[in-house]
Amino acid sequence: MTLLLALDQGTTSTRAIAFDSALEPRATAQIPLPQHFPTPGWVEHDAEEIFTHSLAVLREALARAGGTAANVAGIGITNQRETTVLWERRTGRPVGRAIVWQDRRTAPTCEALRAAGHEALVTARTGLLLDPYFAATKLGWMLDNIAGARAAAERGELCFGTIDSWLLFRLTEGRVHATDASNAARTLLLDIRTGTWDTELLELFRIPAALLPEVRDNAAPFGETTLLGGSIPILGMAGDQQAATLGQACFAPGMIKSTYGTGCFALLVTGEAPVPSTNRLLTTIAWQLGGRRHYALEGSIFVAGAAVQWLRDGLGIIREAREAGEFAAQANPAERVTLVPAFTGLGAPWWDAAARGAILGLTRASGRAEICRAALESVALQTADLLDAMRRDWPEMGRTVLRVDGGMAASDWTMQFLADILGAPVDRPVVQETTALGAAYLAGVQAGLLAPPGGAATHWRLDRRFQPGMAREEASRRHAEWQDAVRRVRSAG
Ligand code: G3P
Repeated sequence: MTLLLALDQGTTSTRAIAFDSALEPRATAQIPLPQHFPTPGWVEHDAEEIFTHSLAVLREALARAGGTAANVAGIGITNQRETTVLWERRTGRPVGRAIVWQDRRTAPTCEALRAAGHEALVTARTGLLLDPYFAATKLGWMLDNIAGARAAAERGELCFGTIDSWLLFRLTEGRVHATDASNAARTLLLDIRTGTWDTELLELFRIPAALLPEVRDNAAPFGETTLLGGSIPILGMAGDQQAATLGQACFAPGMIKSTYGTGCFALLVTGEAPVPSTNRLLTTIAWQLGGRRHYALEGSIFVAGAAVQWLRDGLGIIREAREAGEFAAQANPAERVTLVPAFTGLGAPWWDAAARGAILGLTRASGRAEICRAALESVALQTADLLDAMRRDWPEMGRTVLRVDGGMAASDWTMQFLADILGAPVDRPVVQETTALGAAYLAGVQAGLLAPPGGAATHWRLDRRFQPGMAREEASRRHAEWQDAVRRVRSAG
C-alpha cells in the first residue's frame, strides 16, 4: 500500500487525510483550532498548538489508514494563507501568537501607506492591495510591538513564515526554513513576476531579509520528517486556495473554482503571464513547478458559510445548516428580501472594511424562509460580482464552468441558484476535500506517482452538474437589486 499524506491546516481546524496512490481518500483525522480575539478586530492563533495538532492528526490519519511511515510516499502541506508566525531560529519557539489573516489591526498602517502613494508599486510587484489581510504589515507589527523582536530579527535570530513554513520548520526539527511560491505570493513581499523577494518592498515594510524563508516550487524536496515513526519526505506545499485549484484539476487557462467555507475564494487560472486587475481583484501565483509559474485572478469574499452560521447561531432561526436550503425552497417568490452579509466589511471587489450588513425589502409577510433564502442568495450574488470583475479584467475568460467545493457546495438549492444567477453551469466533484486532495496531488507529482498539471490523467470526477434554468432578464433583475443593496451599505455611499 502506497499512501500520500495531506496536512490541511485551516483557520478553524487542522486535518490530515491519507490518500492512496489513485488519490482516493482512505482515512481522515481532524482537531478544531481555538481562536483568540484579544481585542475587537484582532484574531490570533497559538502556533505551538497548530504544530501539536498537525502532528497528532498526521499520526492518527496514518494509523487509521492502517499504514506506517514506510507506506508513505510523501507528505503534502496546505494551509490557511497569510497568517503570520515569528519564531526563534535556534529553539523553534514562537515569539508571540500568530496573527491570523482575518486580523484587522494593521488597517491604519495600510491606510498610511496608501495615503503616501505606495499602492501602485505594491500592486505592480505583488498583484495584491494594501490591506491588513496580507502578511507584511502583520510581521511589521510584531517587530515593532514585541520587545526586542526587531533587534533579534536584524541579528538573524528569528524566522518569519506563514503556516506552511512554520510547519515545515518544526516537522524537519529546524533543518529547513522554506516556503512555496503560492504562499510567498500572499506576503506583499514577493515579486510575483520573478518569484523572488523584492528588496524595495522589504524596505517599504521595514522587514529584515534575514527573517525570510527560501522560496521553492510547489512540488519539491522540502525536507524529511522523522516524527511519524520513520523518515518521510515532504514533497508538496501550497496555500489552501491554490491547493483547491489543483484539487479541482483547474489546470488550463479559463478554468475556475470557487470554495465555499466560512468565506469564499474564487480562482480563475489565467496561464503563464500574470493578468493585472483593474477591478480590485488579486493577481496571484496559482502554482510554480519546474521554476515555471502559472497565475490566477482571485476574488475573496469574507462571508459565505458564515452567513448560514449566523442564521443558526446569531438569529437562531435554523437548528442545522442544511435547514437553510429547505426553508429557502419554501420562500414566497413574491417577497423580495435581500441580505448583504457585510458583517466584517466587504471583500473583493469592493474592499470596504467599514461597510456593515443589512436586510432590505422586508414586508409584514417576510419571515424565516425569506431571510434564509436571502442569505443563500447573497453567496451566489457575491460570486456573480467576482465573475463579472474577472470577465472585465480578462475578457478571454468567455463562458466558463464553475467548479465548486467547500461546505456550502453540498446545498443543492444554493448551487442551483448559483448556476441560475451566473447563467453558467456549476460542477460539483465527487471528492469535495479538494484542498487536501491538491496537497496530496503535489506530493504525488514530486514522488513520480502522478502526472503533472496538464498531463493526460486527471483525478477529477463529476458528482453533479447544475445547469442554469432562470431567464436571463430575471437573473439580471436580481443582480441589479443586489448591487443596489450593496451600494446602500458601502461606507463611501
Ligand atoms: O486567505 C485565507 C484562506 O487561505 C483561508 O482559508 O479555508 O482556512 O478559511 P480557510
